[in-house]
Amino acid sequence: TSQKLWGGRFTGANDPLMDAINVSIHFDRRLYGADILGSIAYSKALAKNHIISPSERDSLVTGLQQVLQEWDDNKFVLQPADEDIHTANERRLGEIVGSVAGKLHTGRSRNDQVATDMRIWVREEASKLLANLKELIAVAVNRAEREIDVLMPGYTHMQRAQPIRWSHLVLSYAWFWQNDADRLAQYIHRMNVLPLGSGALAGNPFDIDRDFLATELGFRGVVPNSLLGVSDRDFVAEFLFWASLVMIHVSRFAEDMIIYSTSEFGFVQLADTYRYVWDEVAGGGCGELGKRRMQVLFLIRRSLRDTNDSIAIVTLPRPPADQSYLSNPPPPSTGSSLMPQKKNPDSLELLRGKSGRVFGQGTPSTYNKDLQEDKEPVFDAVDTLSVSLQITAGVLSTLTWGVVGLLARVKIRRMRAGLSHDMLATDLAEYLVRKGVPFRETHHIAGAAVKLAEERGTSMAHLNLSDFQDLHPAFVDDVTEVWDFERSVEQRSTQGGTSEKSVRDQIEKLREWLKQG
Ligand code: ARG
Repeated sequence: TSQKLWGGRFTGANDPLMDAINVSIHFDRRLYGADILGSIAYSKALAKNHIISPSERDSLVTGLQQVLQEWDDNKFVLQPADEDIHTANERRLGEIVGSVAGKLHTGRSRNDQVATDMRIWVREEASKLLANLKELIAVAVNRAEREIDVLMPGYTHMQRAQPIRWSHLVLSYAWFWQNDADRLAQYIHRMNVLPLGSGALAGNPFDIDRDFLATELGFRGVVPNSLLGVSDRDFVAEFLFWASLVMIHVSRFAEDMIIYSTSEFGFVQLADTYRYVWDEVAGGGCGELGKRRMQVLFLIRRSLRDTNDSIAIVTLPRPPADQSYLSNPPPPSTGSSLMPQKKNPDSLELLRGKSGRVFGQGTPSTYNKDLQEDKEPVFDAVDTLSVSLQITAGVLSTLTWGVVGLLARVKIRRMRAGLSHDMLATDLAEYLVRKGVPFRETHHIAGAAVKLAEERGTSMAHLNLSDFQDLHPAFVDDVTEVWDFERSVEQRSTQGGTSEKSVRDQIEKLREWLKQG
């Protein structure tokens, strides 16, 4: 008969191609910890119902802990017949504890097992991503507070529209991410129910205590129907949708900064250090994160410290002190191999590009072996988001305004220089509104003022009072007050506006939200 775990009724060997498409161990090995946690809890539940003895339970638990340790220490040796993580762990357990290992799967199926593993794994990764998001939001809030004085042109249709505070723009990203974080917290609550105890599809025949299992494994309850338990992958679909939405927000930020860092705009400048680190990662291929990722994390941490950003870094692991890059860092990128002046926003372009990688993933439906295909999109989305959120925090926290010292405000002047008086045409209309003229009329009059200034090849601010009075008698000499960008921004003081007070209110709200933990 076949050597396979399920091989009792089978004779002969599979076609190697079939084996190749069937195996999932090369990707689902990432579930090893979740799988072992589930098995430990299940061993306890079996003993609780006297299906195995306390000493059998203890040897299963000890054996499973040893298997976990082997994975953790990178010492687990895969065998050719290990088709997925579940069979691999059970095979190894048998080698360690002997035939009692054969009792572990009593009443359980890989169907409820894998559904449970995935929920545990996604839940864990989701809470790490939540920490990444919070860190990114903290970076944005700090930046917004520090640079609250900076005015810039706001755009619609990529045309100069109205003056806004730079902080107001930065906070708009922060609010997107805050919504993402809230959504993720709600998601975690929703999906945190236990499929284990559903069996293959019809339920568990040994009256296993599912509430006990749920408590052991940190679930808030159990999936109420065994068919649902083994087939439900809505939590995968929802996670991928969430991930896509986050990447839309990351991509929007990236695209804005790419545009603002061009010479034509010159509003922001990417930090050198940060850029070359990311070049390193990109050069190595995005799939191979491991060690390179550590480099990025370390350098983000360092660059955050260098800019005196008082951010609580919650998730970044500290690399071991003997990493070779510490003594021998990668060479700074020259930007372009041909054009010496080039400084490319690689980090941002990659963030923009990576969003497509997350959107592009499909999701499966009912339970059949095709459900095995749910894992790679999720793994890929988690990896992409984890890196992208951390890179975004790094880029945003290290954006510079120019070189150093005296030149440090050059970029702020560039933003300022982007402000032109025609962007105050709305304010001119509003001026007349305050004098009692209906807005529809004032819009028309302000448009005529724009046209007149254009015809004279001058700015509206240089039109005479008599020019304005020709357009409407309500204009008086205080019209000159309109030509003040600070005043324009300060007038937008309603909740959510770009006035200093409204921006500070937003900062305070986000800080409070961050404090909630
Ligand atoms: N590797 C499988 C998966 O990830 C485990 C479940 C297998 N179940 C089955 N009936 N063949 O979905």
